[in-house]
Amino acid sequence: MKTAALTLVLACAAACQPHPDIRIADFEGADYGAWTVEGTAFGTGPAHGTLPNQMPVSGFVGEGLVNSYFGGDGSTGTLTSPPFTIERRFINFLIGGGRYPGETCLDLLVDGRVVRTATGPNNRPGGSERLVWRSWAVSDLLGREAVLRIVDSATGGWGHINVDEITQSDERVAEELRTRELTIGKGYLSFPVKRGEVMRKVTVRVEGGRVREFEAELTRDTPDFWAFLDVSAYRGSRVTISTIAVKGKPSALELVTQDDEIKRAENLYREKLRPQFHFTSRRGWNNDPNGLVFHDGEYHLFYQHNPYGWSWGNMHWGHAASSDLVHWRELPVAIYPREFGDWVFSGSAASLGDTIVAAYTSTGRGECIAFSTDRGRTFADYEGDPVVVHQGRDPKLIRYEPGQHWVMAVYDEIGESRGIAFYTSTDLKTWERQSRIEGYFECPEIFEIALDGDPARRRWVVYSADGAYSIGAFDGRAFTPESGKHRYNWGNCFYASQTFNNIPPADGRRIQIAWGTREFPGMPWNQMMDFPVELTLRTTDEGPRLFAWPVREIESLRASTEEWTDLPVAGDAVPIPGAGGELLDLEAEIDVGTATEVGLRVRGVPITLSAPDGKLSCSGCEAPLEAETGRIRLRVLVDRGSVEIYANGGRVYMPIGVLLRDEDRAVEAFAAGGEARIVSLRVSRLRSIRSPQPDNGLKPIVYGEP
Ligand code: FRU
Repeated sequence: MKTAALTLVLACAAACQPHPDIRIADFEGADYGAWTVEGTAFGTGPAHGTLPNQMPVSGFVGEGLVNSYFGGDGSTGTLTSPPFTIERRFINFLIGGGRYPGETCLDLLVDGRVVRTATGPNNRPGGSERLVWRSWAVSDLLGREAVLRIVDSATGGWGHINVDEITQSDERVAEELRTRELTIGKGYLSFPVKRGEVMRKVTVRVEGGRVREFEAELTRDTPDFWAFLDVSAYRGSRVTISTIAVKGKPSALELVTQDDEIKRAENLYREKLRPQFHFTSRRGWNNDPNGLVFHDGEYHLFYQHNPYGWSWGNMHWGHAASSDLVHWRELPVAIYPREFGDWVFSGSAASLGDTIVAAYTSTGRGECIAFSTDRGRTFADYEGDPVVVHQGRDPKLIRYEPGQHWVMAVYDEIGESRGIAFYTSTDLKTWERQSRIEGYFECPEIFEIALDGDPARRRWVVYSADGAYSIGAFDGRAFTPESGKHRYNWGNCFYASQTFNNIPPADGRRIQIAWGTREFPGMPWNQMMDFPVELTLRTTDEGPRLFAWPVREIESLRASTEEWTDLPVAGDAVPIPGAGGELLDLEAEIDVGTATEVGLRVRGVPITLSAPDGKLSCSGCEAPLEAETGRIRLRVLVDRGSVEIYANGGRVYMPIGVLLRDEDRAVEAFAAGGEARIVSLRVSRLRSIRSPQPDNGLKPIVYGEP
């Protein structure tokens, strides 16, 4: 009898076991696959999160989703699935956007008739772009052939629809708010993050008040990395963290830990792809350098930073400081978003006595001024913020000494037209719009520089994020271009560069850092900064031009240097014995001779001069480069994620983002069509900036350990 009952129970358990889910669409591809697109609202393929001018979209799974904000709310269209058979009791999906039945909706059609429909949650200003789980019970339709149709025929506010992760399942998905309470006893909260998890908002409250809010792909699985939140200011306080989770399922909140150091700090700089002498953030994403300023003996590098994710988002000002532009120490986040969605976008900083003044874009307010009296460690907003309200972003603050006033050059949009607006102020609080120039995009830069180092011949240089520059005159109010735009960056790993304010006059250099736009797959951080360069303006046969050259402080990293002279080069790439290594700084002078093509292959990456057309090329990038009296000069910095080329003394600057293979260590030379000669070659092997340093307070590490 007992056995029969048990058999029955087991049989029932087997029959009642839910079948595996069937994914209908996750919208992770480059296009919509077999779905049919009509109209313009859906673009040609899934969106990667938020579209231009849209509030931050969250709650979707992975990288892609359907987002009909393509072209703004005014665009319309439909997206229709191929037919499929209904085989499970529920259809679960993520949905967000407008709440206009029949106009912004996801429909299920059987025999051409709408049998189920759902909209997003919004039909009034404000609201949220977060996608939420919805389910349709479809037991009555089992075995029927159906089609899904995503509709956007609304053109006003919230005239768009967002959809993701449509799945057939025997279980309904629903969400609920989860909260965890803890007493802060350590400096950090560590959050397990994994790409591809649902992006969810996390709120941190102290004694009931909201102090931090961000989005993260939290996981219960093996995390890609642990993001850290500095909670040292809340020691001893009761803190609650909350997030939305799927009902009935454990949430990742339970896995958040308190730690005295950032979790897995022991692996820092031992990670396989970690650049060893370029700044990268310990965790998370970086883009533009911000607030570059020399103040009280320190170079400050603030930067666009997502501390909680591998991709762009949650914009904060990260912070690192250095006494030599080479060894950076990452410090706590300098500026946090005031509230969720009011991101801290790019800007600049200037030193004023014992204060650092920052100007940044608050996406919710406008151009803001903030002050730090503790060497950039913390900032307080000026109470009159925002100081400038216009359509645009990325204020660059400079002092115009002849006029005894401040200048803010800021990216400015008027309708479709893009430019730089110049504002002036004597007190940093009240700003007057003075002028505008057309034809520049985000991240403007303006500085004065002596031509050929001659202080009597000064020029002004203006550029924006791509670095294409104009040379001209500036009277403190308006810039008058005299020539340009010219290019000096020819690489694929350069954007949104900025130069330092307040370099001491005795030094006098114009030092620049650019965002090194390079992905580091599988690593706990993403992107990097290019190696700092000194910019000079020099007379050439084409007129005055900018030159870029690595700052001399790199010499402190040289572990050994070897030199060669007079090496004949002909034929395929041949290693130069003893010239290889992992981290390299090399300089070569090459006599092109009778060769039509000549170059170096550095750790597997060819750098090639095509002599007849005067072109230097590397990794698909190309720049004009003429031999000078039959010779070219190459300087090349090699790190794990980049090959930065400075040709003919810096006339051509080609930063290349490339992941070098560990096993490629050789420096080789090649020539085709004739014979060339390496007149001189100097190769320095470089140390990691994480090698023991007397002053950086960092532990030595052994490279190669897991
Ligand atoms: C440039 C940029 C800026 C903006 C920032 C946001 O890369 O788009 O215009 O301030 O990034 O992270």
